[in-house]
Amino acid sequence: MIIISNFVVLEGGDGSGTTTQMGQIRRRFAADPNLPVFHGDFEPTAGPIGVLIREALGGKLPLQPETLAALFSADRREHLYGSGGVVERCGQGELVVSDRYTPSSLVYQGITCGEEPPELLNRDFPGPELLFFLDIDPDIAVKRMENRPSREIFEYRDFQVQVRRRYREILPRFADGGVRVVTINASQSPEKVGEEIWTAMEKMPIFKGAGDRVAGKDGAS
Ligand code: TYD
Repeated sequence: MIIISNFVVLEGGDGSGTTTQMGQIRRRFAADPNLPVFHGDFEPTAGPIGVLIREALGGKLPLQPETLAALFSADRREHLYGSGGVVERCGQGELVVSDRYTPSSLVYQGITCGEEPPELLNRDFPGPELLFFLDIDPDIAVKRMENRPSREIFEYRDFQVQVRRRYREILPRFADGGVRVVTINASQSPEKVGEEIWTAMEKMPIFKGAGDRVAGKDGAS
C-alpha cells in the first residue's frame, strides 16, 4: 500500500467520538506554536459532493446504496487530490488529520452494498501514516447518539453492531499494508481517549522536525 506521510485518520462507529477528538486535537495545535502546521479535515467533506452525501445521510435524498458508495469515493478523490487537499498539504510538510477516510467506506458501504463495490471504488487510494480506531460498545454509542437532535440513516444499534465487527475485519489489512493502526477503547472519557491519541501521534517523525523548523526560523539553525 502506498502511504501518505503526515496523514492521520480517525475512524470508528457513529457515536465513537471522532468529531469530539478532532476538536481536542485542534485545540492542542492552536495552543502550541512549536508544533507542526496542522490541518483538520473530515469526510464527507464540505465540498459539493459532500453536501449531497449529507442530504442522503439525513434521509432527505433517497439514493441507491451503490450511488452513495460512488459519491463517497468521488468526494474522497477531491479531498485527496484537489487544490488544498491532503496530498498537497502533507507534501508541504503539514500534518493533516481527517475525521473518516477509506475504512469508513469499506465498513459502511461493505454492509449496505456487499464487499466488492467499495473495494473497487477505493482500491487506488493511498493509506494514511497513522490510523486510529475508536472502538466502542454499540450500546454506549447508541446512548450517546440519543442526545443528538436528529438521526442519520446508519445511526441505529443493529447497524452499529455490524460496523464494529467489520472494522475489526478490515483494519488488519491496513496494518499489513504498512499503516500504523492504533485501537483505542472509546468507552473511556473523552479526556483519556484524547491522551492516548496524543501519545501515539507524538511518535510521528513530523513532530521531531517541527522543533528544528522553529529553531531554524529563529536563526539557531
Ligand atoms: P460522521 O463522521 O458521523 O459525521 P457527523 O458526525 O457529522 O454525522 O459521518 C457521517 C456518516 O457517514 C457516518 O455514519 C459514516 C458515514 N460514512 C460512510 O458510510 N462512508 C464513508 O466513506 C464515510 C466517509 C462516511
